[in-house]
Amino acid sequence: MCSVVGYSGPRLCRQMILEGLSRLEYRGYDSSGFACINATSKLASVKTQGGIQQLNLKIATQEMGVSISSSGENNLDGTLAIGHTRWSTHGVSTDTNAHPHFDCHKSIAVVHNGIIENFVLLKEKLQLAGHHFVSQTDTEVVAHLFEDEIKTKSLEKAVLSVVTKLQGAYALLIISEKYPDYLIAVRKSSPLCLGVADKEIFVASDVTAFTDKTDQVVFLPDESFVLISGTDYHVYNYFGERIYPPVQKNTCIWLSEGKSGYEHYMLKEIYEQKRVIIDTVNFLRGNTAAVMQQLNISPETVQDIQNIHFIGCGTSWHAGLIGEYFMQEIAQVATQSFLASEFRYKKFFSYPRTLTIIISQSGETADSLEALRLLSASKQPTVALANVASSSMVREADGFLLTQAGQEIAVASTKAFTSQIAALYIFAHWVAHSKGLITNKAIARAHEELFVAGEILENSIERYKFDIVARIAPYYAKYKNFIFLGRHISFPFALEAALKLKEIAYIFVDCYPAGELKHGPLALIDAQTPVVLFSCLDEVIYKKLYGNAQEVKARSGHLIVFAFEHQKDLIALADTVFIFPKVNPLLAPLVMTGLVQFFVYQIALLLERPIDRPRNLAKSVTVE
Ligand code: G6P
Repeated sequence: MCSVVGYSGPRLCRQMILEGLSRLEYRGYDSSGFACINATSKLASVKTQGGIQQLNLKIATQEMGVSISSSGENNLDGTLAIGHTRWSTHGVSTDTNAHPHFDCHKSIAVVHNGIIENFVLLKEKLQLAGHHFVSQTDTEVVAHLFEDEIKTKSLEKAVLSVVTKLQGAYALLIISEKYPDYLIAVRKSSPLCLGVADKEIFVASDVTAFTDKTDQVVFLPDESFVLISGTDYHVYNYFGERIYPPVQKNTCIWLSEGKSGYEHYMLKEIYEQKRVIIDTVNFLRGNTAAVMQQLNISPETVQDIQNIHFIGCGTSWHAGLIGEYFMQEIAQVATQSFLASEFRYKKFFSYPRTLTIIISQSGETADSLEALRLLSASKQPTVALANVASSSMVREADGFLLTQAGQEIAVASTKAFTSQIAALYIFAHWVAHSKGLITNKAIARAHEELFVAGEILENSIERYKFDIVARIAPYYAKYKNFIFLGRHISFPFALEAALKLKEIAYIFVDCYPAGELKHGPLALIDAQTPVVLFSCLDEVIYKKLYGNAQEVKARSGHLIVFAFEHQKDLIALADTVFIFPKVNPLLAPLVMTGLVQFFVYQIALLLERPIDRPRNLAKSVTVE
């Protein structure tokens, strides 16, 4: 996925667009570009492989060189402009494939976030009609389609005609020399919003691009487009009817604090987790009435709930898998977690008395959002558990619960995961309380348990920090493959830990429920493949895990163990061991979270990986 930013107003806006884009680089960062209508009403543009830093460099080089004509025709700034950062889907990352894309005469520029699914067919037709294509992208077809349509139609009719031909998901920004005062923004499925200030209008994939300029936001409805001219904007639906989406006050303002002295955002975010747990608990217990209103589920509905379903992707799916144990053990509700990308395409059953909670840090992940829409369409009650208050999921679900992680910048999720776990733990207690299973005292105890878990999370990093940096990470950084094992609640945690190692260190990990070891993976055990085993505090599960650890050692395996202090037998088997104090068994994953993230971070550091922005990944995946 990509990000788009546009501007219409009285100021020269190149700098503002580039600033906005750099705040959205979490969405993709393999190439970038800018186009404007300049003072001579000409389309001027620049694009490059690489992020905003490379784009700035290219602009500086161009402006120092001779390419700027004395007539000002090529001047690369204007009061109407669009910009883009890309995360390649169609066509590798090159200067040519970077956005904006143009029509045959280079008088129309288009930037796009999403995927035009039928672009091959459209491209063939356009080529047959004589259009000349230069890139491998799906986006370029939009510029050529628009070129044809504005020859004969009004601007509004031309946009309508283009969108009837497009299949897929898109947030498009378009400018053209024919309409030098108009910025066109089109939305289907991919997010897009307007920032409305006194004398200017911003448009972007995410409010973060303009939060320092205005707090007045219009979230464009799905399948709508807007024609912006100066500070005037007219929004239309896909039937060509004028619509009036409300202007809302954006209350979610995260201004970047920078890395606060840490080498990477990821490390800073690892260390913010204790604070995030405290904030989550305080927010949920201090604003119970407001939160209940936001959740929008009556006590009667809660009492009547028979099933809870969690849906998410990546780390958020792992949080749901852990949340399953909370809901089942604490609230005694049958609970199941689904991967959004699978759920969407499975046969859909409408379950009675079922609440579905969509878990998503960003609230924008395409698969999760579409799963939510599927449920809404069949009138199933939904709640979005999200970190971004202004996100599509928060707006579209029946109710929402906001996690209190603050802005998470590193692509690999750390503190957002922790805040999801803390929120789910409290939510399970609320459900149990509504069903009359526990008292207020138990809820207060749950808050205390979370505070203690946060304390342990941070203390364990401090306890092992020097050893990991000096000895443990350098030793393990040389291994090419790992096996991660967990059982019961520690299995989804093992999945999350494995994901971290894959994402930021690019090390292959196979992760299994430990009970499955003998059904295949035992064949992989040798001294060259360290096995990382995450223990549990449940006595029965612990004994089983101990058995699995013995199976590994009996085959000359190398064992790294995350264990609890009284688990002497398991500790004795380990080649490397990290020991944690005893907590409520359901919070075992939470206390291990910080240390495993820190361990993985140090390995990635030694391997010189771009930790905050791993290759091929993006933080918010708004395409399928
Ligand atoms: C991407 C990110 C992951 C994240 C997943 C789901 O893959 O790289 O860190 O867990 O999306 O994102 P969400 O915003 O829905 O939690």
